[in-house]
Amino acid sequence: MALLSEDLYSKLAILGGDPLFKSPIHVGRPTIRNREQFLIRVNEILNRGWLTNNGPYVQEFERKAADYLDVRNFVAMCNGTTALEIAIRALGMHGEVVVPSFTFVATAHALQWQGIKPVFCDIDPRTHNLDPNEVRRRLSTRTTGIIGVHLWGRPCAIEELSQVALDHNQRLLFDASHAFGSSYRGRRVGGFGDAEVFSFHATKFLNTFEGGAVVTNNDDLAAAMRLMRNFGFSGFDNVVSLGINGKMSEVEAAMGLSNLADIDAVIEQNRDTYCRYRAALTGIPGLEVIAYDDNEDSNFQYVVCEIDSEATGILRDDIVEILHAEGVMARRYFYPGVHRMAPYRAEYSDSSRHLPGTEQLCQRVLCLPGGTAVDATEVDQISEIVRMVLRNGRTISNELRALRHEG
Ligand SMILES: Cc1ncc(COP(=O)(O)O)c(C=O)c1O
Repeated sequence: MALLSEDLYSKLAILGGDPLFKSPIHVGRPTIRNREQFLIRVNEILNRGWLTNNGPYVQEFERKAADYLDVRNFVAMCNGTTALEIAIRALGMHGEVVVPSFTFVATAHALQWQGIKPVFCDIDPRTHNLDPNEVRRRLSTRTTGIIGVHLWGRPCAIEELSQVALDHNQRLLFDASHAFGSSYRGRRVGGFGDAEVFSFHATKFLNTFEGGAVVTNNDDLAAAMRLMRNFGFSGFDNVVSLGINGKMSEVEAAMGLSNLADIDAVIEQNRDTYCRYRAALTGIPGLEVIAYDDNEDSNFQYVVCEIDSEATGILRDDIVEILHAEGVMARRYFYPGVHRMAPYRAEYSDSSRHLPGTEQLCQRVLCLPGGTAVDATEVDQISEIVRMVLRNGRTISNELRALRHEG
C-alpha cells in the first residue's frame, strides 16, 4: 500500500518518477579555467620538447604558487600521496605517527606504505579535525610525528597541535590537500608545522590533472625533498640520496598555471554556490550545512551536510540512494573511516571506544556537488529535492523499507 502522496511518487526517481538530471552531477567535477591559455602552453611544451624533469612551467608554477601562499619553498610533485610520502620520509618520521581516521585513505597509506604505523586519533565532531587533547593521549614512546588534515579546507587547531608537537618533540605535518587558499589567523595555510602537503588532483580546488606539492619554510628540508622527488639525483650521474620519481610534468604545471591565474574568480563562484545551498537548506530539522569561518579565507570547494537521522526520520544512506537515483551523486565522505578499511580494520575492532566522534560523523556526513560543478538553477533543484526528502523523512523511509521488503 502506498504511504506517499501521488505527487511525491511522481517526483522521486527512486519511487518510479523521472530523475531530476539526465546526466549525473558529481562531487568534484574538475574546474578548468583559461582553456585557451592552457592550450597555447601545451603547444609550447610540445615545440620545446621539454615534457618533464623540472621544466620551465614547473618552475613558474612553483614560483607563483609559493608567492600566493607566501612560503619560501613550494616543491611540486606528481600527486598528493607521493608528496605525503616524501614529506614523511624527509621529516624522518618512523615508528608510529598519529593521524585522524576521518580523512581520505591516502593520509594513512602514505605512512603504512613505508612501514610506519598510523595511530588513528579521534576528531572533534564540531570541527571534523584532530582533537589536540586526544592527540596527546595517543602519543607513545614510539611516536615520532603527528599529521593533521585540514578537512574540507577548514584548518586544524594549528596552534594547539603545534604546542603538542613542541611539548613532546614530535614532527608536525599537515595534509592540506583540501586547503589551498584557506587561511588560519590571517595567514595562508602552507607555512604551518614542519611542512604542509597539497593535492592538485582533478577533483581538487586547484587542479593539475594529477599533482601535489610539499610546502615548507625550511630550506634544508625542501632541498632534501627536491632530491627525493628526482631519484636522489644532484646533477648528471650524481645520485646523493635515496629517491623516487615524484616529479610533476610540464603539462600538469601548465594546467596549474592556467587555473591559478583565475583562483579569485573560482573562490567567488564556489562561495556563491555554497551560500546558495546554505540559504536553501537552513531551518530543516536534522540538517546542518557545515560553516566556514567568516573571519578567514576559504576556498568553499565542499558543501558538507550533517544529517541527524533521529531528527529527520531518514538515514543518511537512504538520502544518498534517493539522490543518486535523481542523478545527484552525493558522497558519504569519508565513510566508513580509514580504521574500518583494509589493512587497518583488524587492529581497530574496538574503534567505537577510541573513535566515537569519527564513528558518529561517518554515519552523518553527506557531501553535495559544490564548487563549479553546479550552476544556480541546479543548486536550487538539488536543494528542493533534499528539502522535500527531509520534510517527509519518516514517510519516505517507511516506503523505502516496504519497497525493499517487496523486492
Ligand atoms: C585529505 C587527502 N589527502 C590526500 C589525498 C591524496 O591526494 P592525491 O589524490 O593527489 O594523491 C587526497 C585526495 O585525493 C585527500 O583528499
